[in-house]
Amino acid sequence: MKFFIDTANLNEIREAQDLGVLDGVTTNPSLMAKEGIKGKENILNHYKAICEIVSGDVSAEVIATDYEGIVREGLELAALHPSIVVKVPMIKDGIKAIKYFSEKNIRTNCTLVFSPGQALLAAKAGATYVSPFVGRLDDIASDGIALIKQIVDMYMFYGYETEVLAASIRSTQHIIQCTEAGADVITSPLQPILGLLNHPLTDSGLKKFLDDYKKLNS
Ligand code: G3P
Repeated sequence: MKFFIDTANLNEIREAQDLGVLDGVTTNPSLMAKEGIKGKENILNHYKAICEIVSGDVSAEVIATDYEGIVREGLELAALHPSIVVKVPMIKDGIKAIKYFSEKNIRTNCTLVFSPGQALLAAKAGATYVSPFVGRLDDIASDGIALIKQIVDMYMFYGYETEVLAASIRSTQHIIQCTEAGADVITSPLQPILGLLNHPLTDSGLKKFLDDYKKLNS
């Protein structure tokens, strides 16, 4: 399973990269706004800064919602750095644009996916990644993890190469559930990833090892 970090915060990206298990980064306009990044030039420079920290894929989202605009913005983003994956919303013009990009060998991440039908269209258009939003489905008392499993099974049955990138991850438990559902990638904020480190028996076990060592060696 690949681990992406879902943030535009450079310090968090560095911290995850230092851990040695990071495979990429996803961003979206809300995450960029949270960091106060505004204006086209600053936004493009921020993407470049992210690409210089990580060696893996970096999803950069288009703002346009019409086909020509998505293609124009996507080409500009893709030209920024070889790690850029063009993030395109799941709308009619987005699907057309994903098809265009896939024919040009430009990698894409189809975002805002909430149903198997949407995931089917993304795969048929040739998306590199599809991003079903787990947490936002859970928010409305739907089952985000069940959707991940449905899409994984569908892609496996038909042999689609699109990778299932579980997004809107809110907890460490979500990450574990995504492994059980067979997601190819999870994208998560830093804290749920760091939560994977924790177990009280690890803490108490380590304390005992160190205490026993000190008894004989101090
Ligand atoms: O990758 C999409 C993700 O950032 C959405 O997360 O927590 O805003 O639903 P959230």
